[in-house]
Amino acid sequence: MKISVIGAGNVGATCANVIAHKDFCKEVVLLDINEGIAEGKSLDMWETSPINLYNTRITGVTNDYKATKGSAVTIITAGIPRKPGMSRDDLISTNAKIVKSVTEQVKKYSPKTTIIVVANPLDVMTYCAYLTSQFDRTKVFGMAGVLDTARFRSFLALELNVSPKDIQALLLGGHGDTMVPLPRFTTVSGIPITEFVEKDRLKEIVQRTKKGGGEIVNLMGTSAWYAPGAAAAQMAEAIVKDEKRIFPCCTWLDGEYDLKDVFLGVPVVLGKNGIEKIIEVKLNKGETKLLHKSADHVKKVMAVLDDMKLF
Ligand code: APR
Repeated sequence: MKISVIGAGNVGATCANVIAHKDFCKEVVLLDINEGIAEGKSLDMWETSPINLYNTRITGVTNDYKATKGSAVTIITAGIPRKPGMSRDDLISTNAKIVKSVTEQVKKYSPKTTIIVVANPLDVMTYCAYLTSQFDRTKVFGMAGVLDTARFRSFLALELNVSPKDIQALLLGGHGDTMVPLPRFTTVSGIPITEFVEKDRLKEIVQRTKKGGGEIVNLMGTSAWYAPGAAAAQMAEAIVKDEKRIFPCCTWLDGEYDLKDVFLGVPVVLGKNGIEKIIEVKLNKGETKLLHKSADHVKKVMAVLDDMKLF
């Protein structure tokens, strides 16, 4: 089984590296438009295989989509990252053209692939790949919820000084300030988080999660890569191993949660067929309001893409 990662920058290279270390597929192809970068990083990674003991072959190529032929999963990270002062939405015009051209090539060589979009603004770039590929919605979706819940869970683990492994959380909505963390569905080994953290403190942690991407941009001058790369790798693993894992993913809604024609983060079952089921949790009034507000925001940014008349 082959996985292709398009874009060998910070996120793409990290993602390929995590996939190789997890050793669940035969080959990872890393592709970049920038001459030599994917080849160099792939070779460097492959040279860790005798140390870290994995078999997954890593092949780097410069814009040669033939090498991606027949990929079971394709992860699109190509695009420019966010700089301080930029919102994710600011990236739209540059990244839409990149994601469109990449998706055309991906489809040409792997018409049956499952596409995971990572480029930002996430919800809209996923829409862009969906429009370009014309794939079923079960086969093209975005990585955001796995990252956002990981941030939330990691902050809670620090707060409580417990293992992040034992923290489960659910988060809905767009990838940005309008995301909807659901403390009601957050537990520590099955114990509600409210048993451990005061309401006001929890609000602060939720707020930090919402701004989690920006916190890193402000520290480093560019956007994150370790957690985004690992999150996309985990989604690919669930698909390739047909694990039926439940993750929040950015998916095209067609009436679920009373929302239609919008890409938004909701919990889904991920398996060999991509999104095998969308899970509709019963939300209370306040949560529903926040989710719909998030959808309105995403729709506005989707309209910016529509206005670009690329399709
Ligand atoms: N085809 C292939 N690769 C491309 C193309 C293209 N058309 N255009 C750009 N790239 C490559 C660049 O050459 C670069 O190596 O995409 C890579 C992007 O890497 P970085 O600049 O390091 O950006 P990164 O931090 O990896 O973020 C990539 O993921 O999380 C999002 O917001 C982030 O949209 C950004 C994307």
